[in-house]
Amino acid sequence: MSRDVVIERLDLADTQAIRIAVLRRGTPATTAVYDGDDLPTTVHIGARRNGVVVATSTWILAAWPHDPALPAVQLRGMAVDDSLQGTGIGRRLVDAGINHARDAGASIVWAKARDSAMSFYERCGFRVVGEQFTEPASGMPHHLVVREVS
Ligand SMILES: CC(C)(COP(=O)(O)OP(=O)(O)OC[C@H]1O[C@@H](n2cnc3c(N)ncnc32)[C@H](O)[C@@H]1OP(=O)(O)O)[C@@H](O)C(=O)NCCC(=O)NCCS
Repeated sequence: MSRDVVIERLDLADTQAIRIAVLRRGTPATTAVYDGDDLPTTVHIGARRNGVVVATSTWILAAWPHDPALPAVQLRGMAVDDSLQGTGIGRRLVDAGINHARDAGASIVWAKARDSAMSFYERCGFRVVGEQFTEPASGMPHHLVVREVS
């Protein structure tokens, strides 16, 4: 279904419109910039269809709160255009990001996952750790999730 969608690295600027459209709608936030977004070690992996960015994800070297000594990558800004959700693009981004994390020497990937998207993370091999919390930027309930990089 998503065969005409190409997974590729994005520049930071190319992540903004889709992040704001998908992740900031209905929230008080008007920006979608994360700590570490512009570090040289940070990678943005997205999807384009007919040249248009239709999905984005960001992979940042960042300590896992439950074991800061582990080499870890944090997944942030996971967003797929509304009209293409449920067609396998998110999973393709996670697969590409896990490959990147492995190449970067990470042993785990973690994220602050919205509870509304928890089944997606679980289907992609992540597990929940710890208690629910509210993210200030969105006001939404979240849990930490983690996946080993094998
Ligand atoms: C969550 C999101 C990134 C998933 O991407 P996607 O391309 O829609 O997901 P995929 O089509 O690759 O789905 C992979 C699996 O997760 C499941 N899934 C995807 N989104 C889901 C959701 N919101 N709730 C429950 N299951 C979901 C799919 O059914 C599929 O399951 P399968 O393996 O049994 O077929 C995307 O739906 C999205 O952008 N949602 C809105 C923003 C958001 O919540 N982002 C995450 C913030 S932490």
